[in-house]
This record gives sequence, structure tokens and C-alpha cells, in this order.
Amino acid sequence: MTALTLSTAAAPGLRADAIVVGVAKGAKGPVVAPGAEAVDKAYDGRLAGVLETLGASGAEGEVTKLPAPGGFKAPLVVAVGLGAEPEKDAGYAPEALRRAAGVAARTLAGVKKAAVALPVADATDVAVIGEGLLLGAYAFDVYKDNGKDAKGPLGEAALLGAKPRDKEHKAALERAVAVSEELNRARDLINTPPNDLTPEAFAAVAQTAAKEHGLKVQVLDVKALEKGGYGGILGVGAGSVAGPRLVKLSYTSSKAKKHLAFVGKGITYDSGGISLKPAGHNETMKCDMSGAAAVFAAVVAAARLNLEVNVTGWLALAENMPSGSATRPGDVLRMYSGKTVEVLNTDAEGRLVLADALWAASQEKPDAVVDVATLTGAMMLALGSRTFGIMANDDAFRSAVHEAAEEVGEPAWPMPLPEHLRKGMDSPTADIANMGERMGSGLVAGLFLREFVGEGISWAHLDIAGPAFNEGGPFGYTPKGGTGTAVRTLVRLAELTAAGDLG
Ligand code: BES
Ligand code: MN
Ligand code: ZN
Repeated sequence: MTALTLSTAAAPGLRADAIVVGVAKGAKGPVVAPGAEAVDKAYDGRLAGVLETLGASGAEGEVTKLPAPGGFKAPLVVAVGLGAEPEKDAGYAPEALRRAAGVAARTLAGVKKAAVALPVADATDVAVIGEGLLLGAYAFDVYKDNGKDAKGPLGEAALLGAKPRDKEHKAALERAVAVSEELNRARDLINTPPNDLTPEAFAAVAQTAAKEHGLKVQVLDVKALEKGGYGGILGVGAGSVAGPRLVKLSYTSSKAKKHLAFVGKGITYDSGGISLKPAGHNETMKCDMSGAAAVFAAVVAAARLNLEVNVTGWLALAENMPSGSATRPGDVLRMYSGKTVEVLNTDAEGRLVLADALWAASQEKPDAVVDVATLTGAMMLALGSRTFGIMANDDAFRSAVHEAAEEVGEPAWPMPLPEHLRKGMDSPTADIANMGERMGSGLVAGLFLREFVGEGISWAHLDIAGPAFNEGGPFGYTPKGGTGTAVRTLVRLAELTAAGDLG
């Protein structure tokens, strides 16, 4: 992991391999962003012109490398695009800084030390630049020839313009480090191939983390799930030799006034089961535990940040496989809540494991429950690959979750739960079927989950099927593969709840 420091050193004298500066798109061409004054001065105030000559415009995602001016200890200047220059008196948008820092860290993979001279106006800027650097530097190379091929991440970054002795700056950096480290751990879990990350292996990771961070952890194995009557989780896991688990991770604060429950879909591999997915639809299905990974990371981050709120994470872990022991389309499962579900399509498995975990979470009567799941292809069709959908049983809570997501730079959008879609799940045999109308099937899935949330509990459902796994090239601070989406929204929700600003 990249080491971050706050530094008051002047750019010319700093020993580093590269200096990162920001360049924005001004009305008349590129403009050098604040923070890089010393660098600009060394180019006789002509850095913007030099960058323009080299073809730079200041557009987001743009990288321009140039030799450092004479007298600088660092040999290289890396100018990263910040997008449109903000209006007079307005600062740079946090997400623009986060992304530019991410691009810089990605560009500097394998480099030992960078001096970062991006604009820092306040503690928020320290936090977002820190996050961008740590998230952008992420690489998953544990399976690559003992790492020989891999460059490794940027070793160290000094944030110039931040104040090492300022309490707020220090706290902002600490928060950024805690959240980003846990988010990167979630990415590792998502990227780990499904032959290695079985439900049992995931549960073991949670147990280790619980020990390290003083969390309470309880793992229900197959025997315990049978004894407890968790028919949904057992039904989905029935086809795999790697049995299912339900993990409960609890962080408690002596100063807590509120209790939040996070529930994550943890399908370590989704083949579709007997309703097998065709080739072309299963290669990335190791990502189907991204919700559980996000919940896990958020609970650990809440503990590291000592938030004054109780947070319980529920990881509903199973592998969805076809076999002689697998659940068949037509089977009826008796769920943990007592309701019966006719399984019409074994590929609609996420809602089955979540139903049991939501009901289990509800038994503790938390103030709110948020579930996170790569639940439906339909949500991906609706919102694309970078935005998750938010559904809820409470309009105000849905808005609060959406606001939290916006604040941390996670694109999200509210989706409805139209009542008329409920009857499509009526089953002639059981209380409900696990499938309904094809049109709006992301919302149908949300309506199914709603049936398993305890009376009177505020609930939100994040369908992260689109943004959980980046199949395209890296952008900003988002790598290829597991993205860790929703971690920052969950952490923000915990912070807001601790501050009494939510519910
Ligand atoms: N895990 C998938 C959803 C998914 C698809 C996530 C693509 C990420 C990328 C989920 O279990 C699933 O298979 N959903 C089905 C439900 C259908 C059978 C009602 C879907 O969306 O097609
Ligand atoms: Mn599925
Ligand atoms: Zn799935």
C-alpha cells in the first residue's frame, strides 16, 4: 500500500521521482491549478503554455509528462487533468481532485516517491486527494508469477500544501487511509478467483479481521444454518461442495445511540445453478460477492474510525452451482422468516440468501438496514456500468442514502418499488415465487426483498450489479476488476448516523 505523508517542503528541494501538478480546462486553454506555483515559477510562469504546446487541455483523465525544470531534485513533472476550471471563488470539486489523484497514482505505478502538488484548500481536499492516491494505486497481482511481472504500486506520496501539524488535516488523512485500505481489501476479495474464495474462506477472512479490530464475529456453518432454519441460504448453497455460511460481524461503541445493520450478497460464484448461465455470462461471476465485500469493509472501517454507532454486518455467503444436490426450478424453500418461496429460476439466487440475512438482521430491531447486492442484470441495463440503484421502503431514507453516495463520489440513482409488480411473484404453490415480470425485474427483486424486512424498520437496497466490477479499462481511481463500490457510502451512512444526522 502506498504510504502517504503531509509535507510543507517546497517542491524544488523535495527529493522525489516525480512531481504531480494539476491542470484545468480554462476558457482560453489549460491553466495550472493552485498548489503548483513553485513549479510554474521555475518554468518562468510559462507552465500552462508549455503544457498547451505538448497538447494538454486540462481535460479529466489527461496525463502529460515533462522534464522538471533545472534545479529541481525530482526529474519529472506529471500534469493531470482536473476538468473545467471552477468559477472564481469556488474550489475544485472533491471528485475531480479524487479522480486526478487516482490517475496520477496509476500513472506512477512502480515509482518510489511522488510529490503531489495538487490544490489543497482545506481538510476535505487532503482527504479526497489521499483517497484518490490510495485507491488509484491499487493493483491486484498476487496471482501473477510471484509478482515478477508486476510493477507494484506507487511507493510513497507526499502531499504538498497540506499541513502536517493541522489537526483537521491529520484527521482527514487518517480517515482517508482507513477507508481506502479497507476498500482495497474489498477489491482484493472481489478479485480473488472463486476456487480460492469459497464461503468458508471468506468467513475465515472475516474471523481474522474481527480479531485484529476487536469485532464480535459469529459464523453459522451448514449445520448451524440447518438448525436455525435458514432455507434460503441453504437452498442456494445446496449444489456446491463448498457449503454456505452466514457471517455476523458486530462493531459496538460504548457511546452509540443508534444501530445500523448492513447486509451483503455474498455469492462467491454465480453459475446460475440448474438455470445455468450461458457462456459469456459467467466469466465475471466471481464478482457476485461484491455486496458482502463492501459490507465487510465498511464494518471494519467503522471500527477503525471508532464511530459512535453500533454497526452489524451480515454476510450471506454461498456458491450457486448446478449438481445432483442443487435446488431445482420448482423446488419450494422454507425461509428463515417462515415464508415459503417457490424457486422458479435458480439464477435469481441473490434475493434468496439476502431474504434470510435481512430477516436475521431485522430480529435485532436496528434503526435501519441497508443491503448491498449485485442483484440484477436489469439494473445494469437501466443505469449502466457506473451507477447503482437505490430502492427503499422509506422515501426520506432513500434520499439520505442517495445524498451520502453523492457526497462520497459514488454515482447512484433512486429507483421505485411499483406496487403493481408484486402480484407477478404470486405463486400457486408457495407464499411467493423468486421471479416475477421480466419488465422491471430489478424492481421486482427489490419488492421481493422488502417482504423480508422486519415491520417498522427503515430499509434501503443498493443494486450494485453495474458498478461492482469494471470490465473496461481503468479510469480515475477505479481499477479494472473489483471496484469496491458502496463501501464509502456505507461508511458515510455510519458517520451520519453516529452524528445523529440520519434517522
Ligand atoms: N448475479 C446476477 C446479476 C448480475 C448480472 C450481476 C450481471 C452482475 C452482472 C444475479 O444473480 C442474476 O443472475 N440475476 C438474474 C435474475 C433473473 C433470473 C430474475 C438477472 O438479472 O438476469
Ligand atoms: Mn444469479
Ligand atoms: Zn447472482
